[in-house]
Amino acid sequence: MKNVNKQDYTINRKHREALKKHCSCLVWFTGLSGAGKSTIANLLEKELFKQNIHTYSLDGDNLRRGLNKDLTFSKDDRFENLRRTAETAKLLVDAGIVVIAAFITPYEKIRAEIKEIVGEQDYIEVFVNTPLEVCEERDVKGLYKKARSGEIKNFTGISAPFEIPKNFAIEVKTANEKPEVAVEKIMNIVKSRI
Ligand code: ADX
Repeated sequence: MKNVNKQDYTINRKHREALKKHCSCLVWFTGLSGAGKSTIANLLEKELFKQNIHTYSLDGDNLRRGLNKDLTFSKDDRFENLRRTAETAKLLVDAGIVVIAAFITPYEKIRAEIKEIVGEQDYIEVFVNTPLEVCEERDVKGLYKKARSGEIKNFTGISAPFEIPKNFAIEVKTANEKPEVAVEKIMNIVKSRI
């Protein structure tokens, strides 16, 4: 970038990782609204915390109440929502933290961009593959009903697309797999990386 130079600081990621006694990475959950991303993310964080691993969770619903509160659910705004989140995650990974992110992330292009921003070596994509019918049947937040009636526009799976992920590291099928079993699977991969 013109007129902006990188500043180097003495204390870097390696020092911070050494202090914490583990390495850092980003676990990114993608899937429909109501698929169970936050539930599994929460269980994963509890398990990591129990093992003295320093974590931080970024959640779409929460970030859209602060950092990203100026953004809508248009395609462009979703890209900006996820770009900002990926940049935030990158900073936290540099801080030596195991970052957990739960966002619908409906486009393959933005998933590739997130991987690019954070770096492939630090990125673990988890596809929470819950069929639309199951998410709609559960309708925990009552949003599918509103989307069907037209009260909410651009709703993922109903009136906005969700491109099926192709490049995930782990797939979780919540319709026939217990969250605890899914977490164990994810833990194994995360532990091998940190
Ligand atoms: S993303 O598409 O930009 O990745 P994000 O994960 O931040 O979405 O936010 C999704 C959450 O916002 C959903 O879980 C739901 O609670 C809420 N939401 C509100 N309106 C919409 C909408 N039009 N489409 C999808 N989710 C919505």
